[in-house]
Amino acid sequence: MPLPKAELHLHIEGTLEPELAFELAARNGVTLPYADTDALREAYAFKDLQSFLNLYYELMAVLRTEQDFTDLANAYLARAAAQGVRHAEIFFDPQAHISRGLSLGTVVEGLWRALGDSERNHGVSTKLIMCFLRDESADSALETLTAAQPYLDRITGVGLDSAEVGHPPAKFREVYEVAARLGLRRVAHAGEEGPPQYITEALDVLGVERVDHGLRCMEDPALVERLVRERIPLTLCPLSNVRLRAVDTLADHPLPAMLDAGLMCTVNSDDPAYFGGYAGDNFAAVQQTLGLTEDRLRELARNSFRASFLEDDEERRAR
Ligand code: HPA
Ligand code: ZN
Repeated sequence: MPLPKAELHLHIEGTLEPELAFELAARNGVTLPYADTDALREAYAFKDLQSFLNLYYELMAVLRTEQDFTDLANAYLARAAAQGVRHAEIFFDPQAHISRGLSLGTVVEGLWRALGDSERNHGVSTKLIMCFLRDESADSALETLTAAQPYLDRITGVGLDSAEVGHPPAKFREVYEVAARLGLRRVAHAGEEGPPQYITEALDVLGVERVDHGLRCMEDPALVERLVRERIPLTLCPLSNVRLRAVDTLADHPLPAMLDAGLMCTVNSDDPAYFGGYAGDNFAAVQQTLGLTEDRLRELARNSFRASFLEDDEERRAR
């Protein structure tokens, strides 16, 4: 029985496996510039975040209809459930679809057809977090939030993702203020490739409750102390960090040092179709390579529920 856990850092578009990408391409009459799934997999040799994002956005071309988003989410939920995920807080990138001519309704309704039945079909409770692309303008983010107003009963929170360096959190001050007024929970990617200062800014300017990645906090002891004191959860993604070269090898990952420092770490898969594994694979990898004890693994699983946006009664049911 895999350890029951919550997954808090998962981009639904990053769960698009090569086989499903080709199936959807055929269904929608989209031609992919790869001969087959093997040729596509060969393109998964990333040198940094941007080289991954280029492929991530390119493959989204196969997602056209509500049914595509439903199929994508169901495929993820089935795989996650098999690896012990009982609760998933799922990111999606509406701007990447709206810019291709899809409506926000197609994306949200399509995802919701899978998420709304997920407890019954997969034994996984879910929440949806709408991310803004930080390399797009703040105005575009604000327009997206406005367009999302009819769907706010399905959206728990907002996040910030895509190319980090050069796009500091403060750029999105206003959109996060509006999100807070709308009662949305707030998270943001910070300190994946960007400096520790971006983590501080995400906390102070955007008011985030969790930091996605947060890896580079380790360069700033005063920031580590603050994150420990304020019990700010970090949603780490070890296999992602290896594939995007945020760390040289998994053996170099600071997760053990972060746990020793008292940081509230969680382990997640980020974009599992691209980075070599789902949540359970990430747990297994850190156990094997970093020698984490059973107690440490249980701490990580416990943290994942505590750091989630589940209410207390929901959390008890999910565990
Ligand atoms: N970082 C930033 N943006 C992203 C990622 C990531 O790992 N995955 C999908 N969008
Ligand atoms: Zn991410």
